[in-house]
Amino acid sequence: MNVLSRTTPDDDPAALVSFRVNCCSTPGAFVHCGLDGELVSSTLLLFRVGVRECGTSGLQVQCVHLSRHMERVTSGLGPLVLGSVGLMVMYYVMQRLRVKNRVQDSVVVITGASSGLGKECARIFHAAGARLILCGRNPARLHELAEELGETTDGKRQTYAPRIVTFDLSNMERVAVAGEEILKCYGHVDVLINNAGISYRGSIVDTHVSVQREVMETNYFGPVALTQAILPSMVQRCSGHIVTISSIQGRIAIPYRSAYAASKHATQAYFDCLRAEVESFGLQVTVISPGYIKTNLSVNAVTGDGSKYGVMDKTTATGRDPVDVAYSVLMAVNQRQKDVLLAGPLPSVAVYIRTLWPALFFKLMASRARKEQRLKEE
Ligand SMILES: NC(=O)c1ccc[n+]([C@@H]2O[C@H](COP(=O)([O-])OP(=O)(O)OC[C@H]3O[C@@H](n4cnc5c(N)ncnc54)[C@H](OP(=O)(O)O)[C@@H]3O)[C@@H](O)[C@H]2O)c1
Repeated sequence: MNVLSRTTPDDDPAALVSFRVNCCSTPGAFVHCGLDGELVSSTLLLFRVGVRECGTSGLQVQCVHLSRHMERVTSGLGPLVLGSVGLMVMYYVMQRLRVKNRVQDSVVVITGASSGLGKECARIFHAAGARLILCGRNPARLHELAEELGETTDGKRQTYAPRIVTFDLSNMERVAVAGEEILKCYGHVDVLINNAGISYRGSIVDTHVSVQREVMETNYFGPVALTQAILPSMVQRCSGHIVTISSIQGRIAIPYRSAYAASKHATQAYFDCLRAEVESFGLQVTVISPGYIKTNLSVNAVTGDGSKYGVMDKTTATGRDPVDVAYSVLMAVNQRQKDVLLAGPLPSVAVYIRTLWPALFFKLMASRARKEQRLKEE
């Protein structure tokens, strides 16, 4: 330790002697002691200081017992931290490698399989060996996909030619019948993926209630009706997994997306209740809430008067690759995850702000609404 300066009191016996010292952990620290050499205080971090009387030259900082010991400890911290991080990474990689493929030979139903995320889920679950039942409104597109996937027995993994059931999710009677058709395909369903959905763009003042209802029918009542058509057979078998593709907008409501955000909030609530109610039957429920995905969702969105929005929003165009999201859906099934948020850091933080600091969240959303309003007027 290097003593930089020493302040000796005049003839005041009650005064302290102060040393200014330099050491690796706290340069310029102070050591204060009485004239008898007793240490009173020190601003040195990690150091134990001893002070001794030193003949006529007065007091000197004598020893720093802990320094070497602490330096040894702190110099050992780097490798310790690195080692721990390395072990955690290894554990994470091993866990992912050890994930059981629960999908092989399972009956997996995917709604909205004709495009976007649903189509990529179909490809990934098919490759994982699922017996797929593809659902949607457009039979031509579903048959095209089924032909692309086909059946293969390459020695490595058995894959199956997908079956097809077409129906409109906003037609409740048709959904109930479709549920029966789906169950007839293989006699049961192992995994139901409620993926189909539509988005919406518009201001609440300009939006017909019929549009609010239409979005709610497709995004909420449709999946609810299909789930309830298939649920009794799952409960009877004490086996089954229901996955629902919600959205980050099921956690936070963004201005000019009222119908969509409301339908996804309702979805989150319904499936959270379902998860709790069917756990004792051994059933799994997963809600997946992605941020923007690069699909045609915004192009297919409806506006306040019910017409098609028809625009590929920049946020959607620069969103996540649907293949990556589909892979996360497969992992969620294999790992039996309950609730998955697939969003970047900013939207994820927004979810916590909504809960922990709602006043700030409301301010941010009001400013976002003003900005969008200005852009519309320009
Ligand atoms: N893209 C995103 O940024 C994003 C972000 C978060 C969550 N999501 C959610 O991801 C899911 C998939 O959407 P996507 O992004 O893949 O959009 P997409 O490409 O527009 O696909 C939507 C799918 O839903 C089907 N569908 C729509 N209305 C239907 C109805 N009434 N009955 C039956 N099927 C219907 C469509 O089938 P048709 O061929 O019959 O039209 C289509 O296959 C949706 O639930 C969406 O809310 C998307």
